[in-house]
Amino acid sequence: MRLVAESITITDNRTGNSIEIPIVGGGVDAAAWRKLLPGIWFHDPGMATTAVTSSAVAEINGETGILRYRGYPIEQLAEQSTFPEVAYLLIYGELPTQAELDEWTHEITRHTFIHENFRKRIYDAFHYDAHPMGLLTSGVAGLSTFYPEAKDIFDPDNRRAQIVRLIAKMPTLAAAAYRFSRGLPFIFPDNAHDYPTRFLKMMFEVGGEYEPDEALVRAMRVLFILHADHGQNCSTTATRVVGSSHADPYTAIAAGCAALYGPLHGGANEAVINMLTEIGSYEEVDSFIASVKRGAHRLMGFGHRVYKNYDPRAVIIKKAAHDVFAVIGKNPLLDIALKLEEVALADDYFVSRRLYPNVDFYSGLIYQSLGFPTNMFTVLFAIGRTPGWLAHWNEMIDQNSRIYRPRQVYVGSERRDYVPMADR
Ligand code: CMC
Repeated sequence: MRLVAESITITDNRTGNSIEIPIVGGGVDAAAWRKLLPGIWFHDPGMATTAVTSSAVAEINGETGILRYRGYPIEQLAEQSTFPEVAYLLIYGELPTQAELDEWTHEITRHTFIHENFRKRIYDAFHYDAHPMGLLTSGVAGLSTFYPEAKDIFDPDNRRAQIVRLIAKMPTLAAAAYRFSRGLPFIFPDNAHDYPTRFLKMMFEVGGEYEPDEALVRAMRVLFILHADHGQNCSTTATRVVGSSHADPYTAIAAGCAALYGPLHGGANEAVINMLTEIGSYEEVDSFIASVKRGAHRLMGFGHRVYKNYDPRAVIIKKAAHDVFAVIGKNPLLDIALKLEEVALADDYFVSRRLYPNVDFYSGLIYQSLGFPTNMFTVLFAIGRTPGWLAHWNEMIDQNSRIYRPRQVYVGSERRDYVPMADR
């Protein structure tokens, strides 16, 4: 057998048959494995070793702490770009020209309103203290019933219309969920403002008065950009799984919201604040770290499946946090967070497992200082992540990819006969 340099050879020792599989782009094609070993599956819980697709949206290098959207470093985008521009870049692959950006921004600005039935019938049906992520997830799924034409996913113009609607309406749905939970009157989107300002005004305006400080708008912009995409994470995968059955994009994005809700994913920012509040004081940090090492808790906001060096988003967010605190005053939980980071980064438990602060460690402190209640944190993450979910969904449709349908290794009972109730 001729061996090519970049390949692996697998031998089935039961038969002596071998197959050579080329390594292409750092991956091997499972189709060759299937051919040699039909019915023998990779056992890969959490899909930690499985590349489910090729994607050109975001590049992540966990060893060197790199995150790039379509080739552009996250640091440059956070510093110089706007959220609608980043959304365009993620979805269409290139930075827009001025004319393209103007048209895109105009479209997003024109589609910010939600149907009155939403607030009056759908949101009002929830209990007064419903978690806003529950409202948002249901709200996004509900949008599909308002736009039944969204089912025509193979028409590029139709796809663009739904993409625009989703990016435009997410902040409106999110702010409506918050105002509902507070019993506050809904504020209509004011299209005279840019994306983050419009959202902050829908959230916090009371009696027509609220002009957010420039530094706060900047922080909101940076946070949206930093959350905009992260490759095949849990919620993007959920979006793709549902989208792979050719469900409409609202239903697929609702799946993304549902996956994001969990504390191991987008719910971690809320869990960090709860953890810092529970720790309560600087003096309690050492004993909390000891309890983490005993396995009593996880250190929320630490660790990442991909980043084993540092999370580049955490570095930018830590700086943004200081900028916000310079305007609003320091968040009292900051000292506890800084001490936790310092103690953990000097401790062999965290060092040996390569656990570093992730995007969620400091973002919650900023959100809290901006005035968001903790149960809104994951909602903010969802607004930011929407362009990323849509970029992957759009890419998947363009790739004409197959339906997600993983295998399992069955470990249950052998065949057995039904036992009538009286004999059990
Ligand atoms: N605190 C304490 N120990 C941890 C932590 C943590 N935060 N994270 C991982 N470990 C330990 C874990 O117990 C295991 O130790 P051992 O080898 O002794 O069993 C080892 O590190 C490997 O952990 P893992 O659970 O196999 O790692 P994973 O890649 O499956 O999980 C993670 C990644 C992000 C879910 C996990 O690190 C975690 O639960 N972190 C806390 C929650 C969090 O901050 N999530 C936000 C992630 S970033 C934003 C996003 O994706 O939404």
